Amino acid sequence: MSKNTANQLSETRVFKPAKEFSKKARIQNMAQYRALWEESVKRPDKFWAREAADLCWNKKWLKVLDWQEPFAKWFVGGRLNVAENCLDRHLGTARQNKAAIIWEGEPGERRVITYQQLHREVCLFANVLKRNKIKKGERVLIYMPMIPEAAIAMLACARLGIVHSVVFGGFSAESIKDRVADCGAVAVITADGGYRRGAIVPLKANVDAALKDGGHPVKRVIVFRRAGNDIHIEEGRDVWWHRELEYVDANCPPVPLDSEAPLFILYTSGSTGKPKGILHSTAGYLLGAHISCKYVFDLRDDDVYWCTADIGWVTGHSYVVYGPLSMGATSLMYEGAPNWPDNGRFWKIIEEFSVSVLYTAPTAIRAFIKWGDEWPKKHDLSSLRLLGTVGEPINPEAWMWYHNVIGGGRCPIVDTWWQTETGGHMITSLPGATPTKPGTATLPFFGVDAAVVDDNGQEVPPNTMGKLVIRKPWPSMLRTVWGDKARYKKTYWSEFKGMYFAGDGARRDKDGYFWITGRIDDVLNVAGHRIGTAEVEGALVSHPAVAEAAVVGRPDEIKGQGVVCFVTVKQGVKADYALRDALKKHVRTMIGPVATPDEIRFAEVLPKTRSGKIMRRLLKQIAAGNAVTGDTTTLEDFSILAKLGSAED
Ligand code: WTA
Repeated sequence: MSKNTANQLSETRVFKPAKEFSKKARIQNMAQYRALWEESVKRPDKFWAREAADLCWNKKWLKVLDWQEPFAKWFVGGRLNVAENCLDRHLGTARQNKAAIIWEGEPGERRVITYQQLHREVCLFANVLKRNKIKKGERVLIYMPMIPEAAIAMLACARLGIVHSVVFGGFSAESIKDRVADCGAVAVITADGGYRRGAIVPLKANVDAALKDGGHPVKRVIVFRRAGNDIHIEEGRDVWWHRELEYVDANCPPVPLDSEAPLFILYTSGSTGKPKGILHSTAGYLLGAHISCKYVFDLRDDDVYWCTADIGWVTGHSYVVYGPLSMGATSLMYEGAPNWPDNGRFWKIIEEFSVSVLYTAPTAIRAFIKWGDEWPKKHDLSSLRLLGTVGEPINPEAWMWYHNVIGGGRCPIVDTWWQTETGGHMITSLPGATPTKPGTATLPFFGVDAAVVDDNGQEVPPNTMGKLVIRKPWPSMLRTVWGDKARYKKTYWSEFKGMYFAGDGARRDKDGYFWITGRIDDVLNVAGHRIGTAEVEGALVSHPAVAEAAVVGRPDEIKGQGVVCFVTVKQGVKADYALRDALKKHVRTMIGPVATPDEIRFAEVLPKTRSGKIMRRLLKQIAAGNAVTGDTTTLEDFSILAKLGSAED
């Protein structure tokens, strides 16, 4: 048992929300939570119809849910526009001149964009998309730094019914190429470069490299000038964002779209093959993002809300852009690294903008702990009222530090479990109601029928490990895997009949709280980023020197998991330091810096069963530096275990 699991099992500390906090919250106690939750799962039509009335509709729906397992249609027959919900409806209200986005660039510049201004910018850019003949239903890739124009590009697509697919700026040219091909993108929206730790990330150059071989449907690349670095402009294909603006006006009515119209595709790693394109649609997704901001962050008009995720991840989609803006909230965006120019950057931002709600990841919290309390202590963090975490299980030590050092012991923590596929929060505390315990995401959110089951799909007793499932459809669920219905069915709906299988392991304690232990498939969670072991293996074997590769995770104090690769080389190839470095670089080129191996171990052979399956369980134990235990009787060649034992260097 790992130290972390042992800590969690013995966790007895309970933190109740302060009375003053509860008094002002939308959900003020557990009785209220339970009553609403019961209604949400037993009478979903009633619950969701009431919540959906928060959104503005061009045409009301006829039916709340049409469920043909595993395909869901929510708010059937309704029409609405996501950008209209995030922008237009705040105009002519007290929010018109309120900050929609507060932005700080890594070098230090600042912009405050009101709802009126953001609306105008989005209309202008939507007209640029029209001018470039990009049409409703077509796909556009967005590969941008964390600048307001990233949100503007997303919202402009949404305004016209163009399907965006945002690719994280830390992914490589090769990843862009794969995604363009998979979703058939007709255009790419990018920037010359973005700032990261004082350096410029050459975004446009990566796009050029991705498109250089041709044979793709991209006919237009729109480039925003951010970093001023030199770039190549391909005549007839590339245009400057600022130049295009000269040709358009700001008159651009939102297009009323079907509730089920695709909104975006976001690629995420699975246990096999290349990343899959998770498809989200209009009404259900927006409602999920909206109501979680309403009840989980309990957002208020005077909040300054900061979600530190990049818009390249689903957290950035739901909780930097769509959720907060649909609530008319102020969303803070920061472009760069938390340790630039020093380790106090986050706390300085919080102090200077009076941030009241902070949503970040356990991996960041662990890094802050390592950097030392003196950094947050230099700043006044008294504006904070609520803290949140997402991305991986939070270890109780990190939770306590977050609570005491950042929250000053007064801010509730919402530990939110969810996934790219779920669109919004699924298991989480509600800050004015739920007594929290360090390390658990606590209880299901409204409309979520979560359970922990055994291999036969039977619910397990308290404190027994099992698989996390969701037993009913929910509005913000993924609709399919882009272009691959069979993979959608197989990955999520075939493990157990009638249940969504999340790929995570969990147990419930005697109070019914969910303790999520992490992925139980071949997906790693490195610094809160999902990385498929199969993807890294695929990258390694695409190198001419590599015969075979097996990739596993090992516990890492800061990142949660580190990437360890076992590699056998082709005959005649010298397995030396130079090759090790070359392979690390190769993985970065093929996938991106997020997937950089922490360690590469050369092996003469990989441990396999007699039927030829790589024995990952053994490799995991070896990677973690543990003695190999358990059943090794099916191992093909026992002597190789000894040879695998030596670490890098
Ligand atoms: C993990 C991120 C424990 C989990 C929103 C899930 C968590 C995967 C938590 C999804 C949490 C996310 N506690 N584990 N609060 N939040 N996870 O798609 O393994 O990037 O399956 O979505 O992150 O990662 P994804």
